[in-house]
Amino acid sequence: MASPYISSWFTVLLAVIYLLAASTSTSNAQLTPNFYSSSCPQLLSTVKSVVQSAIRKEARMGASLLRLFFHDCFVNGCDGSILLDDTPSFTGEKTANANKNSARGFEVIDQIKTAVEKVCPGVLGRRDSKTASLSAANNNIPQPTFSLSSLISNFQNHGLSTTDLVALSGAHTIGQARCTSFRTRIYNESNIDASFAQTRRSNCPSASGSGDNNLAPLDVQTPTSFDNNYFKNLVNQKGLLHSDQQLFSGGSTNALVQTYISNPSRFTSDFVAAMIKMGDIKPLTGSSGEIRKNCRKTN
Ligand code: HEM
Ligand SMILES: *[C@@H]1O[C@H](CO)[C@@H](O)[C@H](O)[C@H]1NC(C)=O
Repeated sequence: MASPYISSWFTVLLAVIYLLAASTSTSNAQLTPNFYSSSCPQLLSTVKSVVQSAIRKEARMGASLLRLFFHDCFVNGCDGSILLDDTPSFTGEKTANANKNSARGFEVIDQIKTAVEKVCPGVLGRRDSKTASLSAANNNIPQPTFSLSSLISNFQNHGLSTTDLVALSGAHTIGQARCTSFRTRIYNESNIDASFAQTRRSNCPSASGSGDNNLAPLDVQTPTSFDNNYFKNLVNQKGLLHSDQQLFSGGSTNALVQTYISNPSRFTSDFVAAMIKMGDIKPLTGSSGEIRKNCRKTN
């Protein structure tokens, strides 16, 4: 896994799972990986071309879409709840702590939906929620201040193992974080490489409120390549978020971090397996939910 292309491939995979329909796993009897092979054979290529052009325009977009998938699945399952705009009857998830001024890529989801409706109008797929919950988002999405044990139990609450936690955290091999997400780490933590902290401080002032939205790459080495450098950074005490560094701070996950460094294909296969598992969290089936016409609102 070395090129930015790979991250766009993952993004294609997740966009399909997420927006439309079938899981790539057969663990849920009502989901099938080849749902569209006869009803909309152009589906994958259509999604792929929209995602690739978005990433060509802005490399970060692959990361942003990947994160949307995670933030959707951890709040009442992968039901598209994060995509709903606020309405008079509910405040949705877009202004939850983890999403406000942070979650992005909604316009690309709209573009994908438009493109898919054009080639396969009204072809039914995975079902979406009819509501969204700000408080559920605040309560379920893990925070960068979490300790290792809080991260492990948060993932466990979503049916994901400690291996899934470490593998999925490898998503932080791409994308950016805001100063407000790592300020305490670069000023007040001791298990951080001194020159790395110094560099990050230059664009993230210590006073809260100043430069809060200034960005830094989650992977200092190769911020647009989906590789295993994220794990190498942790061993060098160059994890950007407190929660990142927790995975290599003397606890039970140290060994797995080392494995992903020495055996990158283990990271690849564990990441793929964990993505599929995450994509299978509480899908709406039968007559639950609905197939939205517009991803931002209920029908
Ligand atoms: C383990 C617990 C996790 C925590 C505490 C966490 C926290 C964060 C934080 C604080 C940011 C920066 C947000 C900002 O400052 O605007 C971020 C970015 C990101 N996260 Fe996570 N994350 C976690 C797991 C995951 C998982 C499981 C995935 C996907 C599989 C993921 C994918 C991403 C990506 C790709 C970005 C960059 C997004 C962009 O550049 O737009 N994260 N995460
Ligand atoms: C660092 O810790 C000190 C003492 O607890 C606190 O006053 C200060 O606000 C912290 N600074 C940051 C940037 O977190």
